[in-house]
Amino acid sequence: MAKKRLCLTVNGRAIEQEIEENLRLLDVLRDELGLTGSKEGCGIGECGACTVILDGKAVNSCLVLALSADGGVVETVEGLAAGDHLDPLQESFLDNHALQCGFCTPGMLMSAKALLKENPAPGVEEIKEAISGNLCRCTGYVQIVEAVKEAAQRLGGG
Ligand code: FES
Ligand code: FES
Repeated sequence: MAKKRLCLTVNGRAIEQEIEENLRLLDVLRDELGLTGSKEGCGIGECGACTVILDGKAVNSCLVLALSADGGVVETVEGLAAGDHLDPLQESFLDNHALQCGFCTPGMLMSAKALLKENPAPGVEEIKEAISGNLCRCTGYVQIVEAVKEAAQRLGGG
């Protein structure tokens, strides 16, 4: 397989990498860059476990051909915390018991992050809509919605 150069900014860090041209963004993040926070659930755009923010929008990284993101700015769950300081969304997920097994959590957090960037004071329906592409087998979603609402409030929105 031919290799091509991919340039990305990932969590604020400039990345330049020779990659096989059929790799998905999820493969690059997990296998090339070691950022294994983004999960592969279904691989076909159904579960949202692989959600990252690409150029400000939440995307399923299993559906993005890596080279199509060339020059893009990517945010993953690893970029949320600042050193030892969790992002308010992460704090709120913990405080509201919004995770159990945690498999969906990175994707949930990134969908919620993209929402709060665009809409700092979302209503419950807007939160539900924003995470509608993220499946959770454990929590029943109520605490997740509550966590996003509370994070918005802590950030001065909501
Ligand atoms: S792994 Fe990408 S949507 Fe399920
Ligand atoms: S916490 Fe287990 S899938 Fe969501």
